[in-house]
Amino acid sequence: MKYSFATRAEWIMGSPFKHIRLNSQQASFVSLAEELPASDLFPLEALHTAATTVLSSHPMALQYGDAEGFIPLREWIRAEWKQHKQMEMNMNQILLTTGSQQAMDLIARVYVDLGDAVLVENPTSPGCLQILRMQGATIIPVEGDQEGLRLQSLDELIERHHPKLLFVSPNFSNPTGVLWSMDRRKQVLDCCRRHKVLIVEDDSYGDLYFEDTRTEGPFSRRYPTLCALDEHGKGGQVLYIGSFSKTVAPGLRIGFAMGHHQLIEVMGAAKQLADWQSSNLNQRLLYQLLESTTFDWHEHVALLRREYRIRLRLMEELLKRPAWRNARYHLPTGGMFLWIQLPGGLQSELLLKSSISKGVAFCPGTLCCVDKKLGMEAIRLNFTHPGRDELLLGMHLISEAVNEFTARS
Ligand SMILES: Cc1ncc(COP(=O)(O)O)c(C=O)c1O
Repeated sequence: MKYSFATRAEWIMGSPFKHIRLNSQQASFVSLAEELPASDLFPLEALHTAATTVLSSHPMALQYGDAEGFIPLREWIRAEWKQHKQMEMNMNQILLTTGSQQAMDLIARVYVDLGDAVLVENPTSPGCLQILRMQGATIIPVEGDQEGLRLQSLDELIERHHPKLLFVSPNFSNPTGVLWSMDRRKQVLDCCRRHKVLIVEDDSYGDLYFEDTRTEGPFSRRYPTLCALDEHGKGGQVLYIGSFSKTVAPGLRIGFAMGHHQLIEVMGAAKQLADWQSSNLNQRLLYQLLESTTFDWHEHVALLRREYRIRLRLMEELLKRPAWRNARYHLPTGGMFLWIQLPGGLQSELLLKSSISKGVAFCPGTLCCVDKKLGMEAIRLNFTHPGRDELLLGMHLISEAVNEFTARS
């Protein structure tokens, strides 16, 4: 049978991530390509205990649950985000989703018509681009610098394209790891308010900052979310998206959207078409974990921050080797990635091919850019998933591939 897939599905079928994932399953293959947290830091014991309690004491966890998500978990998130991120939301402004990926997909489904212009921070996460392409959006890249989106280009692009949405990650964007300055946050919010463009703020990496908050003061006060700046989350200008994938475990598939109740209501209705509800069992399991007296989420995230900072330092050291002499990058102060401009016009996709044959993969910049050409000479390296030995081996193999290319040219 020759299947006639929709045109918009064509490009998904050739996704290079599938190829990378297949390779990563082989023993000794090192993947610096994916968006994976450290598996060795999952709170396994605490999750085990929580799972036993849920299954033995709350059999209703196996039943269908509330379409908007398990109420006590939504309440936990509401209270936590109010206290620590200055975001005041009502319960009807919170929707639990199957990862933050589904939250992005839902807002795109209910807000974007075929051909509608949508602005994205460039470069941006491959997942965000995939969702918008699938929706048939006209994706417009907005360039940024080390402080965030460039305001003048944002303003001009809005005037020219009249977009409906702007997708951003002010806290440690995927792939660049940029952390927006306070001024830029306020300016972008003002600009979108003036032009009535809804901002989708993806804060999936927002808790993974490496600064020492004992000396610098609370991170969320110095870098408030756009949603918090938007009248403490009540302004309705920002749809905020969060996730427990990077701070507990992605296998739970628990993310959420917070925003104006009208947005949440329509997204909730669309979610019911997609999957009725996200896993009731997993939501109760996460809630049991967060409420457990033997597990402290804040301490756990602090542990991740310390460990990830060490892994980033190691990668930084490895980038001092001669192969990377002419590479350009900014060290991120959080998140999970390093975005590198390759030395001497080296092409990321060719380098990837050669690296895979040596047993290592990374994400080529082309997957993160609206216009592939702009990402041709860049790569994204994940420093959180590989352990120390894997990181050493992986960087050694990529360096070898870089050296082979530069020796030839
Ligand atoms: C920026 C960003 N948003 C969202 C996601 C989706 O994550 P999840 O659905 O596991 O919350 C990812 C994946 O790593 C990501 O990098």
